[in-house]
Amino acid sequence: MRVLGIETSCDETGIAIFCERNGLLAHRVHSQIDVHAYYGGVVPELASRDHVRYLRPLVDETLKASGLQLSKIDAIAYTTGPGLLGALLVGATFAKSLAFSLGRPALGVHHMEGHLLAPLMETPEIPMPFVALLVSGGHSQLILVRGIGDYELLGTTLDDAAGEAFDKTAKLLELGYPGGPKIAALAEQGDAKRFAFARPMTDRPGCDFSFSGLKTQVLTEARRLVKTQQFDEQAKADLAASFQQAVVDTLVIKCARALEQTQAKALVMSGGVSANQQLRETLKSFETQGIQVAYPAPEFCTDNGAMIAFAGLMRLSRGQQDASLAMTIRPRWPLSELPKVS
Ligand code: KG4
Ligand code: ZN
Repeated sequence: MRVLGIETSCDETGIAIFCERNGLLAHRVHSQIDVHAYYGGVVPELASRDHVRYLRPLVDETLKASGLQLSKIDAIAYTTGPGLLGALLVGATFAKSLAFSLGRPALGVHHMEGHLLAPLMETPEIPMPFVALLVSGGHSQLILVRGIGDYELLGTTLDDAAGEAFDKTAKLLELGYPGGPKIAALAEQGDAKRFAFARPMTDRPGCDFSFSGLKTQVLTEARRLVKTQQFDEQAKADLAASFQQAVVDTLVIKCARALEQTQAKALVMSGGVSANQQLRETLKSFETQGIQVAYPAPEFCTDNGAMIAFAGLMRLSRGQQDASLAMTIRPRWPLSELPKVS
């Protein structure tokens, strides 16, 4: 089975073709960073329009790169939610119309299930159950994965998501959007030990997170530096490095707890923040404790069509598909509402 995947939940248009037998055949991502950078964040209406503009050419490009005709596509998977209402509608309308015209099944996919299963695209042999750290712009969750659709939430954020914390901190340091890669780049020149930021919620039991206080700590420190005329480029880099270290340490402590609590033997990480090099290197240290650690290549950590095609394939190949032509997008959609697949 060959699945065309369509991702339009936020500010990336992602298209991919994933083949059950031969894996990923081709994929293309168009990022809207340039569209939104001026505004310091995603403008939903502009996001929808940009998806309209790029969907069709990207599908053509992806087909061309795969060497396949459209008629060789067996099914279409698209992101139904969670995400921006308008952006989701563009992708869903396009996907369902195309599927209808081809006489092929379509299936709405949960964006976070796409992230969650993305590590399996390259490492299908990860033993279940495994612990998944899902860290993106909208989510910070630790999940026990027992099977496709069999997810137990171990912990979640009580306020900002990890990516949101990166984005907001970058904004107040005037680094621009999106904040994660900007902070990570600046942190390379910084001293992570200069500022002692908290490792939030690690003094309390459980696997929940809270990141909103961290940005306030960075802001308070930045203001103090401005007042004392020490807010120079080095100070900014040190703030970025110390902030990044605090987030990484917090995530690592919570992952250790989740592994201990569940006795799982594997840890995967996905979502935009999992592109963070320092987090990737630090989490690898669990391997010394006999834990298998896996995460997608950086291009499949942030939003992309391949993870949607793959998650769609997992369900379509087991007989699931949209029951009707009705357009049902789910801007808010808890992972726990997904059906299990045997
Ligand atoms: O998964 P994603 O592409 O979109 C959502 O579904 O949210 O994640 C985007 C988030 C943004 O908050 C971005 O700042 C963050 O991932 N991000 C990073 C890095 N690259 C992207 N955060 C930290 N370090 C990075 N290298
Ligand atoms: Zn995402």
